[in-house]
Amino acid sequence: MTQQREHWGSKIGFIMATAGSAIGLGSLWRFPYMLGQNGGGAFVLLYFGFTLFIGIPIFIAELIIGRASQKSVVKAYSELAPKSNHWRLLGWLNIFTSFLILSYYSVIAGWTINYALMSLNNFTEGKTPSAIKAIYEILYKSADISVFWHLIFMLMTVGIVYGGIRKGIEYWSRILTPALLVILLGLFFYATTLPGFSQAAHYILYPDFSKLSTEGVLNALGMSFFTLSIGIGIILTYGSYMKTQEDIPKTGFIIGSISVAVSIFAALMIFPVIFTFGFEPEQGAGLVFKTLPVLFAKLPGTTFISTIFFILFVFIALTSSISLLEVLVANFIELFNWTRKKAVLFSGIGAFLLGIPTALAGSGDLFKNWQDIYGKDFFATIDYTSCSWMMPLGGLLTIIFIGWFMDKRLVQEEFLQGTKMTKLLHIWLFLIKWFAPIAVILVILQQTKIITWN
Ligand code: PFF
Repeated sequence: MTQQREHWGSKIGFIMATAGSAIGLGSLWRFPYMLGQNGGGAFVLLYFGFTLFIGIPIFIAELIIGRASQKSVVKAYSELAPKSNHWRLLGWLNIFTSFLILSYYSVIAGWTINYALMSLNNFTEGKTPSAIKAIYEILYKSADISVFWHLIFMLMTVGIVYGGIRKGIEYWSRILTPALLVILLGLFFYATTLPGFSQAAHYILYPDFSKLSTEGVLNALGMSFFTLSIGIGIILTYGSYMKTQEDIPKTGFIIGSISVAVSIFAALMIFPVIFTFGFEPEQGAGLVFKTLPVLFAKLPGTTFISTIFFILFVFIALTSSISLLEVLVANFIELFNWTRKKAVLFSGIGAFLLGIPTALAGSGDLFKNWQDIYGKDFFATIDYTSCSWMMPLGGLLTIIFIGWFMDKRLVQEEFLQGTKMTKLLHIWLFLIKWFAPIAVILVILQQTKIITWN
């Protein structure tokens, strides 16, 4: 018996679920610290350019592949390229990358639960900004606490994905995504009143290319993929739950704009704190946890605002982590005929186990010589490898597939169905066939030192 594929219940539900996947730790946690480590405005400009000319076109490509095949990644490629078996491997690369990312995503999201609880306990009261900042270091070094919250967060993710796309993913995304946007906007307006705001705005919006390294260029590309959830099969999977009358190009632009806007608002909220209190922008992965509580401590109703903020932070991480888990689950159900329950448990337990070394990275209890050997701790190694290498590679292969191997008529039909943006078809085709692949290849060649330019 063939099972009917579940579809999104409504247009807005689909947009919210996709926006929920896109807006996540990427915009609020990863973007600000990457921007601080890669020199400011030039990184932002590249991130913006990559999103517009590479990210959104890939996003549209993934929706098309998903909707045209009505399958999850591995089967989608075998369905659309029946003569070649190799494209299946791209599906597996997607699955593996999602798995790696989910493993550490959950650790960071676990820290946000921890911060919500700390906020409820008024943890900033009577502390100086440096003392508030130092709490993150204590947390990072506390292996047991990190593992504990990682477990809790993974259980929450597993619970929702088990509920299925309609009841689970769509329902929660509709409520939580708008709530977070409202609170972010409020905090942004408050940040504009801080003395460091204009310095921060200059740092973020004024591009100084002398501060950008070649690794920074690759990082900006990976960042754009991360926030859009592309290059790892998520958007393809969500596209496969899409109905035919929905507008694919428009969805690409809406989600692309929302995720860039949220990233930039998040930075405009965090960097004024950094400049007001004389912190360093290059704080690394702890940046958001070190700075935002300092901002909250200055506000009236600290406990309330800080608690609500971190609770919402947990929820937006959830609407993203469920999309990462869904890629694994959807494939295991489809490939091996597993029940949803079995697929969810298998993937959730696997990602939990792999997340443990990340949760222990700060304590140094495991892999003591990792940093000396690889130059980064375990957490940073997985983050860098998956986001700056595997995602861009996954995205590159996806557009090569759709631009050069997939049935042209089907591609065009899917693009045009339900959209008024018909004039964009040729621009999009040019971007995915020529511009985006060449640009991604050049960035990768430069980073592998096969070619160098200054
Ligand atoms: N786009 C989401 C975020 O920015 O947090 C979730 C996400 C999806 C992160 C896919 C990473 C990723 F590879």
